[in-house]
Amino acid sequence: MSISLGLAGRIVMITGGASGIGRQCALALAREGAAVAIADSNAEGAAAVAREVEAMGQQAASIGFDVRDASATDVAVGEIEKRLGPLDGLITAAGISRPSPATELASESWEAVIGVNLSGTFYSCQAVGRRMVARGRGAIVTIGSISSLGGQSGRAHYCASKAGVVGLTRDLAIEWGSYGVRVNSIGPSATDTPMIRAGIPENFVSGVMEDRTPLGRLAQPEEIANVCLFLLSDLSSYVNGSLLMADGGVTAGFLTHRHGRDLSSKTLLASGIYTE
Ligand SMILES: NC(=O)c1ccc[n+]([C@@H]2O[C@H](COP(=O)([O-])OP(=O)(O)OC[C@H]3O[C@@H](n4cnc5c(N)ncnc54)[C@H](O)[C@@H]3O)[C@@H](O)[C@H]2O)c1
Repeated sequence: MSISLGLAGRIVMITGGASGIGRQCALALAREGAAVAIADSNAEGAAAVAREVEAMGQQAASIGFDVRDASATDVAVGEIEKRLGPLDGLITAAGISRPSPATELASESWEAVIGVNLSGTFYSCQAVGRRMVARGRGAIVTIGSISSLGGQSGRAHYCASKAGVVGLTRDLAIEWGSYGVRVNSIGPSATDTPMIRAGIPENFVSGVMEDRTPLGRLAQPEEIANVCLFLLSDLSSYVNGSLLMADGGVTAGFLTHRHGRDLSSKTLLASGIYTE
C-alpha cells in the first residue's frame, strides 16, 4: 500500500534551508513534487540547494536574509511569493547552538541564540502566517528539540529558545486555527547535521548522545524531514498546536538515561564540548 502525501504542486518556504535538516526538507519536498523556496543567511548555500532541487525537476527559489531582522524577513517572503506564488507551507529550520556553561555565557551568545531560534522563528511565522491567514489556508512546522522539554547543561539559551518555540507554536495554532492555518512543532533529538558535527566531540556523540537514545543512534536528517512533510501535508489535517517528538525515545522515560551524573556541569566542562 502506498500513501500519497499530496504535496505535489504545493509551494513551501524553508528557513535554514542551506544545511542539515532544512536542506533535507527541501530535497524531500522536491521528491514529493513541491516547489521550494530556500531561505538562509548563507545565500550561497541556499542557492546551491535551490540548484539541487531544480536538478530534481522541481521549481526552486533561494534568498539570503537574517531571520533576526523582522522587516528583511517580511520583504523576503514577499519576494518569494512574487517568484513562486502564494506559500502553502513554511518550515522554520534556521537555528544555532553555542554551548557554554551558564556562569560564563556571554550576553552576545544569549542574544544570538534567542534571536535566531526564538525571535527568528516568530518573525518567519508572522511574515508567512499573516499572508496565509488572509488567504484562509496554510501549514507551518517549527523546529523544537528535546531541549523544548528539559534542560541540558551548557544550553541555558538554547533550552530557553526551544521551550519558547513550543509556547509560540501553541499560541499561533490557537490564533490561526480558525483561519485554516495549522501550526505544529517537531522535537528532534541529536541529528547528524553540520550543527552536531562542528561543535561536539566524537566521543561525546557516541558515548553520551547515542548511549542515551533507546534507538541507539543519532537521527538522520531525512528522518526528521519526513515528519515535517507529514505535518505539512493534509494527512495531519486535524493536528494543530502539537509538539511531535522525533527523538528515538530519548524523552520517553528517565529510566533509559544512563548519564545523569556525567551530564552535570563539572563533567561537561572537562569533556571539551564547550566552544566558548
Ligand atoms: N542537529 C540536531 O541535533 C538538532 C536537534 C534538535 C533540533 N535541531 C534544530 O533543527 C534546526 C536545524 O538544525 P541543523 O542541525 O540542520 O543545523 P545546521 O547548522 O545544519 O543548519 C542551520 C541553518 O540555519 C542557518 N541560519 C543560522 N542562523 C541564521 C539566521 N540568523 N538567519 C537565517 N538562517 C540562519 C544556517 O546558515 C544553516 O544553514 C535548528 O533549529 C536546530 O536547533 C537540531
